[in-house]
Amino acid sequence: MNKKIFITGSCGFIGYNFWKKCQKLNLETFSVDKLSYYSNKQAFVDLSKEKAIEKIDISSSKIFRLIEKFSPDVVVNFAAESHVDRSIEQPSIFLNSNYLGVFNLLISIQKFMKKKKKKIKFIQISTDEVFGSLGRNDTPKKETDNYEPSSPYSATKAAADLLIKSWIKTYKFPAIILHPSNNYGPWQFPEKLIPLSILKIINNNKVPVYGSGKNIREWIFVDDCVEAILKVIDYGVIGESYNIGSSEQYTNIEIINHLIKRLKPNDYDNRKIIKFVEDRPGHDYRYNLNISKIKKELKWTPKFSLEQGLNLTVDWYLSNLDWLQKNKKIYGVSKRIGLDKQ
Ligand SMILES: NC(=O)c1ccc[n+]([C@@H]2O[C@H](COP(=O)([O-])OP(=O)(O)OC[C@H]3O[C@@H](n4cnc5c(N)ncnc54)[C@H](O)[C@@H]3O)[C@@H](O)[C@H]2O)c1
Repeated sequence: MNKKIFITGSCGFIGYNFWKKCQKLNLETFSVDKLSYYSNKQAFVDLSKEKAIEKIDISSSKIFRLIEKFSPDVVVNFAAESHVDRSIEQPSIFLNSNYLGVFNLLISIQKFMKKKKKKIKFIQISTDEVFGSLGRNDTPKKETDNYEPSSPYSATKAAADLLIKSWIKTYKFPAIILHPSNNYGPWQFPEKLIPLSILKIINNNKVPVYGSGKNIREWIFVDDCVEAILKVIDYGVIGESYNIGSSEQYTNIEIINHLIKRLKPNDYDNRKIIKFVEDRPGHDYRYNLNISKIKKELKWTPKFSLEQGLNLTVDWYLSNLDWLQKNKKIYGVSKRIGLDKQ
């Protein structure tokens, strides 16, 4: 691949892992990120050293100028407000980034393509959450299944997907939509389940478990997700959507138990470590994706089992405790959000 890639949200968890992979592959990139409290400050330092980032909101009118200046072949949009609990408390910032931000990217790219007569492949990082909750025995969701988002977060992501689909149909806009399942791995901010649990366990604090802890998620190691996105950049068909998952489903409590066993092998008693707390309003029970399309058509398949990925993740956090503790201070780990009924 020899493409110029414009990355949005590269100081976030998946965006930074993606940028690091691009660096390894010697790909030319330029990034934007608005830099939020949960953004990775190390990422901003690294990208700034390469003079490959500008701090800017994707809903800003300046986005067009940056795209024009860099003249990319591909735009990958990771930028989004992504914390479901926060979307329950502050839905308006989710609408701004996840919907209006995408609208601004679409019209900026459109204007660029018209002016420069150059095609840009636009890749939207959507989510498995747009399909809504599955029951225990429901079959995994296909790309063509209906959208039934439950949270303000997933509703804004679904709304953006619909906007993009309309652009594809109406303007023949060269976009591809991706639906990754729950990612985990290095550099994830400790307000999400896995890094938050690691942080709580090593600090001897209780790990909060929402409701019964029986909610099921499909987990994918971030390196696998990054590889899938690269495959899509090279071989993804314009106008199509692709699910990206591992088919490995676990309850939240199973994930936490695994982490406790790993981090407290001699003192394993999860009753001492876990604290059941009030459930999230509208908490989806289960997500599960049918990933046969990307496997068959793009010859991508996940390489890491959950066991391998989680071990690598725990090892990474243990060797980067400074980073974890610093981010704990930013977040204030004891704060529970998302219980406000609007
Ligand atoms: N993490 C997951 O498990 C997961 C799963 C499926 C889909 N996704 C999607 O993947 C993408 C990346 O997720 P993540 O976990 O890396 O997110 P993240 O929350 O770690 O990072 C998002 C980054 O985007 C930036 N950003 C947010 N709004 C912006 C705006 N308006 N303008 C510029 N920058 C903005 C933030 O500052 C942050 O650095 C998101 O679109 C998310 O919806 C994530």
